[in-house]
Amino acid sequence: MLLFGATGDLSQRMLLPSLCNLHADGLLPDALTIIGTSRSDYDDDGFREFARGALDRFLPGDRKDAATIEAFLARIGYVPLDVGDHSSFQALADKIGDVAGGLAVFLSTAPSLFEAVVTGLKAAGLGGDTVRVGLEKPLGHDLPSSEEINDAVAAAFPEDRTFRFDHYLGKETVQNIMALRFGNVLFEPVWNASGIDNVQITIAETVGLESRAGYYDGTGALRDMVQNHMLQLLALIAMEPPTHFDGTAIRDEKVKVLRSLRPITPESVQTCTVTGQYGPGAIGGEFVKSYADELEQPSGTETFVAVKAHIDNWRWQGVPFYLRTGKRMAARRSEIAIQFKPVPHSMFASRGGQLQNNVMVIRLQPEEYVQLLVMAKEPGLDRDGIRLREVPLDLSLDKEFKQRRRIAYERLLLDLIEGDQTLFVRRDEVEAQWRFIDAIRSGWAANGTRPKSYPSGSWGPSSAVALTERDGVTWQDD
Ligand code: BG6
Repeated sequence: MLLFGATGDLSQRMLLPSLCNLHADGLLPDALTIIGTSRSDYDDDGFREFARGALDRFLPGDRKDAATIEAFLARIGYVPLDVGDHSSFQALADKIGDVAGGLAVFLSTAPSLFEAVVTGLKAAGLGGDTVRVGLEKPLGHDLPSSEEINDAVAAAFPEDRTFRFDHYLGKETVQNIMALRFGNVLFEPVWNASGIDNVQITIAETVGLESRAGYYDGTGALRDMVQNHMLQLLALIAMEPPTHFDGTAIRDEKVKVLRSLRPITPESVQTCTVTGQYGPGAIGGEFVKSYADELEQPSGTETFVAVKAHIDNWRWQGVPFYLRTGKRMAARRSEIAIQFKPVPHSMFASRGGQLQNNVMVIRLQPEEYVQLLVMAKEPGLDRDGIRLREVPLDLSLDKEFKQRRRIAYERLLLDLIEGDQTLFVRRDEVEAQWRFIDAIRSGWAANGTRPKSYPSGSWGPSSAVALTERDGVTWQDD
């Protein structure tokens, strides 16, 4: 395995800990060696020390067995690389040696370097049939730049050896959406415009800018979160049942949904989107600074976005999909709430009983559960009328499955090594995602839309509430 960007933040937090976990569980092939590369001038031992430091910081205490870490580090080597210099690719190829047994390359570098990297790999003989390439986001900043990257990669690696990472697809609860929908007969008959009133997808974070100003400012929440993770969640919720559990069948269904997203226009952008930027506030009782203060300059970048999307096909006609995501929100929470339609006729009304619509909540993190809110009768003799109340049917995945939850990258890196593309994003999906996002951004530009300030520790600007309330819908908050 060859890791580009091996000294970067993602490598330290996610990639090295994930690979170490896979090693510890005996899931990596015995012969697998991991070569890190980046501009930093390490030798093998220097990089091993660097990796040891990352594992020490980012592996949980119960995964820090000293002998296991030593054995893992023994698999690692390093070659410094100047992407612009072809001779350094040759040094890399010499270090790697024969790739007949397979080579998994993972690129977590700035996307502006992707073209130079794949060209360098190919020229150094590291582009043959046994080599697969994994690409970390962002894959461009709009459709044209994404096409450019995809074209450059395609010149060296065909689609069936290109693995576009979206780490949300590596999360257990995200994969569980498919088990829930297609492993049960109960839900699919009402999983459409006749049964569902609206769908809400929330990814709320309490963290702010962290140390990512260089990337995040100018990127913003729409491109950082909606373009990839949220549209993938939407596609999994909305797709038709695939006939097989494989990369072609599942991705064929997802892309049909992504292509059916109704384009947002400069006219509809005002009523279909809300943008915000966090001001000062409090999170967990602690004062936190505004985005502009963290950045130390004013900025027009949105740290919150809400979008009302429509899917123009038979199944979803008239069903709004509300998406919202933001930094410095009231709580860390990723969830999908499906609000069902009311019953066609309530026989309880004449006896004072009031019904609420059923809701299904799929909580992805930090807890993992599926909750179905159903109506039940309160115990009693009902002399003053029937009292009905919403009660949860609770499926706690945390309690039901005690296994350690793997880091999403463990799953995805192993799939890359083994060549299973099911949980990776295909080129046509990424491009359909960009098409939807670019239309929103042009709408913002045409209208001079600026993000509204919202207090840190809140659920975003008040106009995000208005976005759903106008339709008579309330966000599913606790
Ligand atoms: C990344 C974004 O893709 O996902 C980050 O770049 C965000 O801004 C992160 O914080 C959220 O991932 P998770 O797994 O913590 O929900």
